[in-house]
Amino acid sequence: MRGLLRIFALLSGAVAQTQLNTSEVSIMGASYSGNGCPRGTVSTSFSSDRMIITLSFDAVHPFIGPGATRSDSAKNCVVHLQVKYPSGWQFVINGTRWHGLFTLADGIRAQLYTLFELVSRDTQVINVPTVTLNGTADVSGQLFNADLPVLDELRSGCGSDTILVHDRWSLSGTKENVYQEEWMAGDTPLIQQLELKWKECKR
Ligand SMILES: *[C@@H]1O[C@H](CO)[C@@H](O)[C@H](O)[C@H]1NC(C)=O
Ligand SMILES: *[C@@H]1O[C@H](CO)[C@@H](O)[C@H](O)[C@H]1NC(C)=O
Ligand SMILES: *[C@@H]1O[C@H](CO)[C@@H](O)[C@H](O)[C@H]1NC(C)=O
Repeated sequence: MRGLLRIFALLSGAVAQTQLNTSEVSIMGASYSGNGCPRGTVSTSFSSDRMIITLSFDAVHPFIGPGATRSDSAKNCVVHLQVKYPSGWQFVINGTRWHGLFTLADGIRAQLYTLFELVSRDTQVINVPTVTLNGTADVSGQLFNADLPVLDELRSGCGSDTILVHDRWSLSGTKENVYQEEWMAGDTPLIQQLELKWKECKR
């Protein structure tokens, strides 16, 4: 009986733990630049539980082949996100996820590179390992959905209530002697999701 009571006390203790007040978490501002994100083509949103930031890039159209310049074949963007959160809390970026539609004709190889920075007194940078997307003949309309674990944890500070997140990516395709072709589906946005994990600061 005593044991049961103790278990009950432990359980109710866990329930009583403070919850993140999601209405105090928001994206205060977003700016971006790069040839993969012309003005007016990026949207940002938070999931209602504030665990996922979704970035939608609506104008990423890389193509390769004769006449294609470096700027045609390689697209990039830097996004600066100002995230507001309540004091007494911090978040960790523990993953990123990409969604997009692409057609990689025989032998075209595309690479996606991602880097994050949390800008504060001690700026932390993380390089997500580059993903190589391999195409084979007649692969069309395939979804790519790279779940990239971030190796070390990027942690926001406990003392501040806003932080700047820099999110930089580049996407490029290469193949020798090929006719010029687009390989991203034109009408589908490239979507990136940042997975956040919230923690209460230790007092
Ligand atoms: C959450 O934050 C909002 C805005 O600051 C506030 O109005 C509300 O009372 C808070 N809710 C709780 C449960 O603390
Ligand atoms: C991030 O943390 C959440 C919650 O702990 C977990 O479900 C998810 O798998 C983690 N993501 C990565 C990439 O580690
Ligand atoms: C693509 O090929 C490279 C080299 O062969 C390999 O390292 C990589 O894991 C492949 N990527 C995918 C998504 O299969």
